[in-house]
Amino acid sequence: MQVLVTGGVGYIGSHTVVSLLEAGHSVIVVDNLVNSKIETLDKIKQITNKDIIFYQVDVTDESAVENIFTNHSIDGIIHFAGLKAVSESVERPLTYYYNNLVSTLVLVKVCQKYNVNRFVFSSSATVYGDNKVPFVESMNLFPTTNPYGETKAISERILIDITKANPAFSLAILRYFNPVGAHESGLIGEAPNGIPNNLMPYVTQVAKGKLNKLRVFGNDYPTTDGTGVRDFIHVTDLAEGHVAALDYLTAGTHIYNLGTGEGTSVLELIHAFEVANEIKVPYEIVERRPGDIASCYADTTKAKQELGWVAKRDIIEMCRDAWRFEKNYKE
Ligand SMILES: NC(=O)c1ccc[n+]([C@@H]2O[C@H](COP(=O)([O-])OP(=O)(O)OC[C@H]3O[C@@H](n4cnc5c(N)ncnc54)[C@H](O)[C@@H]3O)[C@@H](O)[C@H]2O)c1
Repeated sequence: MQVLVTGGVGYIGSHTVVSLLEAGHSVIVVDNLVNSKIETLDKIKQITNKDIIFYQVDVTDESAVENIFTNHSIDGIIHFAGLKAVSESVERPLTYYYNNLVSTLVLVKVCQKYNVNRFVFSSSATVYGDNKVPFVESMNLFPTTNPYGETKAISERILIDITKANPAFSLAILRYFNPVGAHESGLIGEAPNGIPNNLMPYVTQVAKGKLNKLRVFGNDYPTTDGTGVRDFIHVTDLAEGHVAALDYLTAGTHIYNLGTGEGTSVLELIHAFEVANEIKVPYEIVERRPGDIASCYADTTKAKQELGWVAKRDIIEMCRDAWRFEKNYKE
């Protein structure tokens, strides 16, 4: 298949481009580089030895997107492009709603015009809100606690309605849990701008000495050791889940959790990182962070049964690969 990957220079997108190329697909990447660096494309070429077509385009720009569809015959889309920092979304809701919703609307509109009927959307476990764990795809969704989460929940509803009205349209909504780790080559990984929002890049930057100390937000949650529990998934497993979903897609809406199904507490993750890499990670316990929930992990039965996909890499591998990338990475 010829697959258009929006946000393909970013963290999850770049790993998915590698998996797509390795599975024999050809790839067109569209990214405005607002949160990524062009060098990543060379790294992908180094890993795969394959070429990628690249457009530096903002996906909210309809005529620029349409231009790509007129230039290429596209079989399917994986739509990663989006802004993802929860706290920033609270400060800049308009930017988040505009970017994340308009990009999705433009893409589906152009897909319909050019008869492209396979669409894979990056959603998030955040749409489950305060449901009981493990989260199952069939659960009713609760409102999320921030504009970022709302852009995911609203995009899901928009895409589901459009799919209902178009019998030929095939939609996969993939709800990611907590992607961590990096490609085993150490060439691509998560390289956030500024202070990281997510736990693993924070851990690796503390290990590297770029940051002083890790802050653990709360140790009084109703969990085994009081710290938050998350379902960490290796980004390469996540990438492979996209290839499986794209291959499987049939008409209609298909929603899948992409997680391991196992909860790991923040303290367990820190200790696994220390064991995997023989390095200390100094941390301190601070107040809970508003909007954080106690536990978040997936029921992965549906992805296993329908896609034949399961996450294969364990927490030690996630920690080792994340650290290998951080050690290699130069700003
Ligand atoms: N990383 C996570 O923890 C996580 C969890 C759940 C869902 N997601 C979703 O997965 C997707 C990918 O996340 P990521 O972690 O790889 O983020 P990322 O920021 O590394 O990648 C997103 C990419 O999209 C690009 N982009 C953003 N807006 C764009 C626009 N209007 N036009 C073109 N390019 C644009 C950015 O430059 C970046 O390269 C996002 O939609 C995110 O919300 C991420």
